[in-house]
Amino acid sequence: MTFTFQLFLILMGIAIAILGILWIVVPIFTGLPWIPTHRPRIRKALDLAQIQPDEILFDLGAGDGRVLIDAAREYGAHAIGIEVSPSHCLIAWSRALFAGVLDRVSIRFGNFYSHNLAEADVIYAYLTPKHATRLRAHLEQQLRPGTRVLTISADMDGWEPSAFDSSDLIFLYRMPPTPGGLETYLTKRESTSER
Ligand SMILES: C[S@@+](CC[C@H](N)C(=O)[O-])C[C@H]1O[C@@H](n2cnc3c(N)ncnc32)[C@H](O)[C@@H]1O
Repeated sequence: MTFTFQLFLILMGIAIAILGILWIVVPIFTGLPWIPTHRPRIRKALDLAQIQPDEILFDLGAGDGRVLIDAAREYGAHAIGIEVSPSHCLIAWSRALFAGVLDRVSIRFGNFYSHNLAEADVIYAYLTPKHATRLRAHLEQQLRPGTRVLTISADMDGWEPSAFDSSDLIFLYRMPPTPGGLETYLTKRESTSER
C-alpha cells in the first residue's frame, strides 16, 4: 500500500467520523432531534394537503430527505429542504440523486427560522410543541394567503386546523390561519356530524 493511498484512507476515515459526529450532535443541539417520518405518514400528510404537480413544498428540517423525495417522485412537486445538519444535507442530497429526482429536489443548508419561505405552496414540518410555538410567528410573517401548512406531531397553538388526522397526529392549516385551535375544530366537527 503506497503512502498516498494510506493518507487517503486516513483522511476518508476522519471525514466519515466528523460527519458521523455532526449527524448526532447538530440535531440534538437544535432541540429538534432527527426523528424521520415513516412513509405511510408522509403519504397521508401529502394527501391531506392535496399537493399538486409543480407546487413548491418546503420541508423545514429535511432530515434524510425522505419527504422531499416522496413529494417529488409521487406527487411531481418541487421540493426544497432546509436542514441545519451538514451530514443530513449530504445524505438527503445523495438519496435524491440515487432516486433520480435531483431536478425536482433541492437541499439548502441553514436555519429554517431565518429562511425566506414566501414561494412555498405547502410547508411540511415535523415539530415539537416548543418549535411549533417558535415557528408560528415566522410562518405568519412569511407565507402567502392560500399556503397550506402541515405540522406533524405538534399543533400550532392559536390556529384552527382545516383538517386533522388523529391517528397519525397530522395537522393541516391554511394561511391566513383561522384563530382557534384543535378544540374549536373538534367542536365544530362534532356539531356538524350531529346535524
Ligand atoms: C423531526 S426531524 C424531521 C425530519 C424530516 N422532516 C422527516 O419528517 O423525516 C427534524 C429535523 O430538523 C432539523 N432541524 C432542527 N432545527 C432546525 C433548524 N432550526 N433549521 C433547519 N433544520 C433544523 C434536524 O437536524 C432534524 O433533521
